[in-house]
Amino acid sequence: MLKKHVKNNVYWVGKVDWELRKFHGDEYSTHKGSTYNSYLIQEEKTVLIDTVWAPFAEEFVENLAKEIDLNKIDFIVANHGEVDHSGALPALMERIPDTPIYCTANAVKSLKGQYHQDWNFNVVKTGDKIDIGNGKELIFVEMAMLHWPDSMATYLTQDNILFSNDAFGQHLATEKLFNDLVDQCELFYESIKYYANILTPFSPMLRKKLDEITALNLPIDIIATSHGVIWRENPMQIVEKYAKWANDYQENQITIIYDTMWNGTKALAERIAEGIASADSEVVIKLHNLAKNDDNDMITEVFKSKTVVIGSPTICNSILHSVAGFIHLMKQLRFKGKKAAAFGCYGWSGESVKIINELMSGAGFEILGEGLRNHWNPDSDSQKAAVKFGKMIAEN
Ligand code: FEO
Repeated sequence: MLKKHVKNNVYWVGKVDWELRKFHGDEYSTHKGSTYNSYLIQEEKTVLIDTVWAPFAEEFVENLAKEIDLNKIDFIVANHGEVDHSGALPALMERIPDTPIYCTANAVKSLKGQYHQDWNFNVVKTGDKIDIGNGKELIFVEMAMLHWPDSMATYLTQDNILFSNDAFGQHLATEKLFNDLVDQCELFYESIKYYANILTPFSPMLRKKLDEITALNLPIDIIATSHGVIWRENPMQIVEKYAKWANDYQENQITIIYDTMWNGTKALAERIAEGIASADSEVVIKLHNLAKNDDNDMITEVFKSKTVVIGSPTICNSILHSVAGFIHLMKQLRFKGKKAAAFGCYGWSGESVKIINELMSGAGFEILGEGLRNHWNPDSDSQKAAVKFGKMIAEN
């Protein structure tokens, strides 16, 4: 790590993880790597905001010690206890064991639960302030359930920097640091993927929190997240995106997601897509085989969709595990205001469509029709029926 200048006496002292391909265990794909952003504020008080993921703890502490005398750190702000931000605390606190840690009450529970240490915790609540000298203050804003109970943001007055932790972040490795210096397509794809896969269930809380932050009337020049780039060019653009995404977001898109054993269900999927296209020339149609795609990318497509068409053949009176697992993932994320339809081939008993309808209804989707069941491989009549089914979906 070489410390990188953010603004005035604020520096980035984090870790860029170019190799990361899976996050939260294997739950979240990170095709573009990630960063763990830690910040050093050097005013009259020296403040460290967050640290990095545990595998980089020693490297982080050694590098930080090359930048400053660790004993000069007056206090640490732990915006969030999850290990990707707190993972270097044990190594750091071994070197400076009495240093105060400012965090929420829930973060104390989280950090004690994870590290079993009785560090010098100082609990803060929304609106609490700390004077760090030179006329500047840190103001704390609790961000409960965005996305953990302990989450918090910290605002630096005068420099007008919001250290937002996970909120407004993306899993995107870059040496460039700022939003205006990276590929905008990559940036916004990784931002919406992050929202879709991590923040969707907490959208109602996010709507309230955005209102609360707006009411505080704090000027924001920079949003310094804990993953990916720092928003310095028009930082409110990502806040505006979040306001849209938090409001049961959908685009004019229908996504067909299926798995198939011998390509019968795949043939239905392709005919359904033709039917949708013939009935609606405007709608964006995406067609994906779950077995050949990444679940988190598929969740991003679901997030953008108004309707999701799910297909599986029947196997052992049930559905393929890829489809069952994906519906479970959608249920966890609590999508709102979306429709769904089911289809699938069968040779013997043919329960897949009924099962998909039940599972998708349980996942909060409005079900269109009874679904499309097809005995054996689709012949020309059943292919026509699939086209008709696609038209029905487009018209609803
Ligand atoms: Fe980036 Fe919730 O940790």
